[in-house]
Amino acid sequence: MAEITSHAARRSVAPNEPQAHNKARSERPADYPERFHVPDHLVKWRSPYPEYAPPRYEAPSTLEKSPDPTRFSDVARVLASYEPGCIRIDGATGEPLNPRGRTGISGRGGLYLWGPNHAADLLLTRFNTTTQSLEALLIQRKSGQWAIPGGMIDPGESASRAAMRELKEEAGISATTSVKTRELYRGYVDDPRNTDNAWMETVVFHEHLGDADPLLKTTPTAGSDARAAQWIPLSRDLIEGLYASHSAFVKIGLEELLVTPGTNAQTRAMVGDLLELSPRT
Ligand code: BGC
Repeated sequence: MAEITSHAARRSVAPNEPQAHNKARSERPADYPERFHVPDHLVKWRSPYPEYAPPRYEAPSTLEKSPDPTRFSDVARVLASYEPGCIRIDGATGEPLNPRGRTGISGRGGLYLWGPNHAADLLLTRFNTTTQSLEALLIQRKSGQWAIPGGMIDPGESASRAAMRELKEEAGISATTSVKTRELYRGYVDDPRNTDNAWMETVVFHEHLGDADPLLKTTPTAGSDARAAQWIPLSRDLIEGLYASHSAFVKIGLEELLVTPGTNAQTRAMVGDLLELSPRT
């Protein structure tokens, strides 16, 4: 399998002042305890919140896979966070603190690692000439939510290889040729599994397939933990309902399409509509 050719087009949803997280303090997987309420003005660690008493949670699968009595032993890995600046460590517990602030739950939750947990995602888009629609290859997660194919990076694996492997496992598509895939985003993910001490970060790649691309010869087939895998016409509602920060990732991908030479006029018009842009004169 060929390695993805990544252009150094690192993008961040908010490069200067990172956005506060929302899903990471309002949503949670079914096994998580209820989150302690974190109002908008008390998300940042620097805002005093003396009453803050989040429940502590570590899922049985987390404790089984990586029992870590020292709580936070792998400093080097935390330094590899994609977030700008240093990861703050809680002086009292020695545990890393979520760079976007409070989440209402402490411990690792359902994530295996303290600090950043790294994933990789691959957004594939195409213009369907038969239906005249702009589509993305999406998978349906166990929760029922649609998402870009992706998953956790294995130890020693590169982000691009992980993205290709997940595409094969979740959607049955092997990218065997050298695809000119762009790196769209690298950073924090507003994921419902995040806690005060463990959080998701990802690298997102994007490729817009031409009409004759060999990848289009394979019909997507769901595998691994995906319930379904299919090309779906993009609509504003679909994009807004995507898992975690995937809606922001798709929007960045669409913005990139607008500035990519060779994007056809129909695709440009559809992207403008999806992003609610005024028609360009
Ligand atoms: C998913 C990725 C997602 C990441 C962060 C992983 O479990 O497979 O698609 O970007 O979590 O939410």
